[in-house]
Amino acid sequence: MNTPGDKSVSHRALILGALANGTARISGLLESDDVLATADAVSRLGASAGRIGPGVWTVKGTGGRFEDAASSLDFGNSGTGARLMMGAVAGTGASARFIGDASLSARPMGRVTEPLVQMGAAIAAEADRLPVQLNASTLKGIDYRPPVASAQVKSAILLAALGATGETIVREDHATRDHTETMLKLFGADLTVESEGHGRIIRLTGPQTLTACDLDVPGDPSSAAFAAVAALILPGSDVILRAVMTNPSRTGLYEALARMGADITFLPAGQASGEDIADLRVRASQLSAIDLEPDIAPSMIDEYPVLAVACAFAKGTSRLRGLSELRAKESDRLAATQAMLAANGAEARIDGEDLMITGGEVPGGGNVITHGDHRIAMAALVLGLAAHGGVSVDDINMIATSYPAFIDDMTALGAMIEAIE
Ligand code: S3P
Repeated sequence: MNTPGDKSVSHRALILGALANGTARISGLLESDDVLATADAVSRLGASAGRIGPGVWTVKGTGGRFEDAASSLDFGNSGTGARLMMGAVAGTGASARFIGDASLSARPMGRVTEPLVQMGAAIAAEADRLPVQLNASTLKGIDYRPPVASAQVKSAILLAALGATGETIVREDHATRDHTETMLKLFGADLTVESEGHGRIIRLTGPQTLTACDLDVPGDPSSAAFAAVAALILPGSDVILRAVMTNPSRTGLYEALARMGADITFLPAGQASGEDIADLRVRASQLSAIDLEPDIAPSMIDEYPVLAVACAFAKGTSRLRGLSELRAKESDRLAATQAMLAANGAEARIDGEDLMITGGEVPGGGNVITHGDHRIAMAALVLGLAAHGGVSVDDINMIATSYPAFIDDMTALGAMIEAIE
């Protein structure tokens, strides 16, 4: 199976392309609703993002000078688009109003607006939520330690720092995905990254102007996760998932599955846009339960719903620790994941910040409330493939925010997924 383009890298390719001097050519762009919202936003700020073929786009950059947005920028369901673009817009000194759908409007924005205000951004928002109005201002560098492990927060600050005067330092207690740092270097930026304990210190002195380059988006390990877990829990499966990005800041799920006894082989396949990629061969495996430490969370933050599905078929009781950040995702993913399993007869309970799951046979037959969350919908459908009575979900339309080809890809692998009305 060809893995769809990585969502995080796709957003960043469009945003850095829009900030750069010159025209960037991007191939393998994930054309999902979230990423298309970012393409639309950068175009309305004066960059011109255009599709020249399937997954192939060009972005004519602004050289760091965005225009004021004439109307609100709508990021739909996408926290990554909204939060990274707040940093990018603030750094260019442009004005824009940020809005999103009901789910995004319920998610915390203060984690990004607070450091941006410290840098000098003029921001009006009520109670930590969208809509956010960002008004033109000049920025200065800051020395900042984000209170939550978040690549979105780090990235927003680094993008703003490109247009700020002086040095910006971001001190991460726990290293999060580093695609922004890698791609900034591809665009010619001068920044340093230093390890410190479990974390990293990133330094960037502004102002700096990026230079456009060509990019090839690697496959998304978070999207590949669904087919990987399906193959593990369905007896007789043997699938190859092609060109999956293997950046260690994204492969926590695969490490966890390996510890559970999963038969997954990584066949290195070179690089795409500075990121290592591999073809993954996944064969059905008898899994055993895992006690998963909280430190691994940043490297698999989006994969807990589908890991929970794997745990529901593993021998023994798993404990997935330290999941409070899941409550700030597209839905309260901790509650939604537990409810998804419980509705289908699997034994799952929340204990403080931990999710406990006892594996075995899953009766299925339940209807899963997705709360409009794409990863809950996809995880539930994977659960349904191996549960005795199948699983139904209340909505699949939002799967297009991250993985528009999900149903087609899973069907091609042998899944039977059908509309019931
Ligand atoms: C992302 C970072 C993560 C992740 C999201 C994508 C990114 O969010 O959940 O899907 O592209 O930087 P946080 O930074 O909020 O952890």
